Amino acid sequence: MKTLKDLFEHQLKDLYSAEEQLINALPKMVENAKDEKLKKAFTDHLEETKGHKRRLEEVCDELGIDPFGETCKAMQGLIKEAESFLKEDMTDAVKNAGIIGEAQRVEHYEISGYGTVCTYAEELGYNDIAKKLKKTLDEEYGSDDKLKKLAKDRLNEKAM
Ligand SMILES: [Fe+2]
Repeated sequence: MKTLKDLFEHQLKDLYSAEEQLINALPKMVENAKDEKLKKAFTDHLEETKGHKRRLEEVCDELGIDPFGETCKAMQGLIKEAESFLKEDMTDAVKNAGIIGEAQRVEHYEISGYGTVCTYAEELGYNDIAKKLKKTLDEEYGSDDKLKKLAKDRLNEKAM
C-alpha cells in the first residue's frame, strides 16, 4: 500500500469480512438470548447488518474494487470469545446480561472501523461514499444504544 486510498480500500475489505462473519454469527445470538426484546434486538440488527454488507458492496462497486480478499481477524476473535462464553454453565438471566456485553464489544469494534473509513472517505473527497458509510456508522451506534438500554433498564438487574 502506498496511499491513503490503498489503506481505505484495505479497510473496506476488512469491514466487509467483519459484516459477513457477523451475519453468520447473529442467528446464534438470537437463539441463545432468553428474552424476547433481546431476541428482537438481535433479529433487527441481523437485517441491518445485511444492509451494511450491501452498502459495502455498492461502495466497492463505485470504487471498482472487489470487496472480497481480507479476513477480519478481530471479528473472528470477538465471535470466538462470544461462542466460548455461551458454552459456560450459567442461568438464563446471567446469559442475557453476558450476551449483551459480548454484542456491545462487536458494535464498538464496528463503530471504530466505520469511523475510520468515514474520515478517509471525506478526506479523499468521496462525499457520497462517506454519506453511505455514515449511515451504517449511525446504525451501529443505534444498535449499541439499544443494547445498553436493555441491559440498564432490566436485564442486568435480573441477573443480580
Ligand atoms: Fe454492521
